[in-house]
Amino acid sequence: MTAGPDEIARAAAALRAGGLVIVPTETVYGLAADAANPRAVAALYEAKGRPSFNPLIAHVPDVIAARRIARLDDRAEALAARFWPGPLTLVLPIADTGAVCDLARAGLDSVAVRAPAHPVMQGLLKAFGGPLVAPSANRSGRPSPTTFADAVDETGAAAAAALDGGPCQIGLESTVVALLDRPRLLRPGAVTRAEISTAIGPLAEAEADARRSPGRLARHYAPNLPVRLDAAEPGLDEAFLAFGPAPAGGRVFNLSPSADLAEAAANLFTFLRAADRSGAAAIAIARIPQQGLGEAINDRLRRAAGFVG
Ligand code: TXA
Ligand code: MG
Repeated sequence: MTAGPDEIARAAAALRAGGLVIVPTETVYGLAADAANPRAVAALYEAKGRPSFNPLIAHVPDVIAARRIARLDDRAEALAARFWPGPLTLVLPIADTGAVCDLARAGLDSVAVRAPAHPVMQGLLKAFGGPLVAPSANRSGRPSPTTFADAVDETGAAAAAALDGGPCQIGLESTVVALLDRPRLLRPGAVTRAEISTAIGPLAEAEADARRSPGRLARHYAPNLPVRLDAAEPGLDEAFLAFGPAPAGGRVFNLSPSADLAEAAANLFTFLRAADRSGAAAIAIARIPQQGLGEAINDRLRRAAGFVG
């Protein structure tokens, strides 16, 4: 049975309390969290299992709400007017870094924004009143769920609420177009390349991007300073990203004094940036255990240290 106003109101309250909610969209089912709440976003990555901090899509009800979080140029406005609400995601310069937190953007200066058409998701976005990040509701490495039952089966255990919206009409994730410099098709989807070209002109090849960064379509934040991992303590010229009990200091940023991996994930990109700007010559980072969210944190840290492409 499709969720009604009472269930939608309860789901909005669960999101406000930092909980996760299974949501229907016209493309696939998503697992949603408050985009402004880094702890909720950390829990969301954790719920996907074998977590990786890929940047997430911020869902908004309409173009007016999109303009509050991102900068829309003429091309973005044209695409939004033509295809929203609907299965099109636009990657745009971020305008409000608090509305979509650093962790949700994987530390990037850009944000992916989409206005989904599904009436239940539209109702939830209006009841909640802010952007919701929602990756597909599958556990990592599995296909995106397109029915309520499959979505609950995949990530229901981690959700505080689940909204039934019936089977997804499109059944394929949204088209992702980046409008940061030249328009680029990052992920093909129900809105076709031809439809987009008709609205804004030709798109750069997605394949060209894939060759440049094999296996991943999105870049992640990389600090300017050199990074040293598994550090017991900082050297004289180093900023320090601590984990667990550590002496305080001007350039010490403690990811989690209580050694909580979700808290460390929530602080990761924000503190990396702060360390980068601290005036230090390098960034030393404490050892992070490899369990649970630790795997994703260590993956990002190894990339930050230049060990992985
Ligand atoms: O249809 C959909 O888009 C579904 C429903 C739930 O809305 N969501 C979905 O989310 O497929 P997810 O997290 O599975 O895929 C998000 C895609 C990824 O390919 C990610 O790399 C890209 O969007 N993305 C997000 N932010 C980006 C950014 N700032 N720059 C480049 N790519 C970005
Ligand atoms: Mg997915």
